[in-house]
Amino acid sequence: MQLAGKIALVTGAARGIGRAIAVALAQEGADVAVADVRTDLLEETAARVQEHGRRSLALGVDVTRKAEVAQMVAQTVAAFGRIDVFFNNAGIIKIHDFLDITEEDWDTIMAVNAKGVFLCAQAVARQMVRQGGGKIINTASIAARQGVPDSAVYAASKAAVMSLTRSMALSLAPHGITVNALAPGMVDTDMWALIDAQTAALRGLPPGEPRARRIRRIPLGRPAQPEDIARVAVFLASSSADYLTGQTLNIDGGTIMS
Ligand SMILES: NC(=O)c1ccc[n+]([C@@H]2O[C@H](COP(=O)([O-])OP(=O)(O)OC[C@H]3O[C@@H](n4cnc5c(N)ncnc54)[C@H](O)[C@@H]3O)[C@@H](O)[C@H]2O)c1
Repeated sequence: MQLAGKIALVTGAARGIGRAIAVALAQEGADVAVADVRTDLLEETAARVQEHGRRSLALGVDVTRKAEVAQMVAQTVAAFGRIDVFFNNAGIIKIHDFLDITEEDWDTIMAVNAKGVFLCAQAVARQMVRQGGGKIINTASIAARQGVPDSAVYAASKAAVMSLTRSMALSLAPHGITVNALAPGMVDTDMWALIDAQTAALRGLPPGEPRARRIRRIPLGRPAQPEDIARVAVFLASSSADYLTGQTLNIDGGTIMS
């Protein structure tokens, strides 16, 4: 049990990577507050945390709204007393040709993936400063490190997450807070089902073809399952990662090698 007695908060926890992280943290002994706009799916995540004998709390939050973010942090602290580990994971994507991207596309994606990550990290960091330390783990993407033809705004938003991770790591180190990021490659979630459908529609490909082409570029020959990401998440949340800060870790089957 690497996380026995720890208190964690995960955003974007209603499904996909966030849900897998919440369950993996519980398996390692953490109590986990789970937050998302999709409150209809959130209770299932909370139930799966509780199946491991841990406490959970399902919190409806839109990470783009500062007042809701403040309430998410306050409710977690009211229920569990502190936040040792925060996964800043909520995110959205849209596939579009660069020439067709609208101002609204830019604002919508940046609001969740960049501003939302900032608002949540700041609110949680203030709590962690008060309690004397903690671990913040943001979800970036390998899209932050390379050009992406049909999701330029998404890639820019994830580059913002990488940048924030570095700056926050510097600002918060004196308070005993480490800040790192996950950079998944292709992960089999509803988000990738959307990428496949939107790319197929945009480029006139049969459904499934964008997915097949993407898999051919992965040296390990398969997409990640959410649990592949969650295992690295557990490591970053554990004391094994105490000397790691400001890092963005690729979890991508070897797609980008450093
Ligand atoms: N799936 C991939 O291939 C992949 C690759 C790299 C990075 N990521 C990142 O991983 C994270 C999780 O992605 P996923 O694949 O599990 O996607 P997903 O769509 O299955 O889950 C994302 C979750 O975020 C929630 N969310 C969206 N907007 C929100 C908001 N305003 N407030 C609160 N919650 C909100 C959604 O309701 C959803 O539950 C995202 O940040 C995504 O960008 C995914």
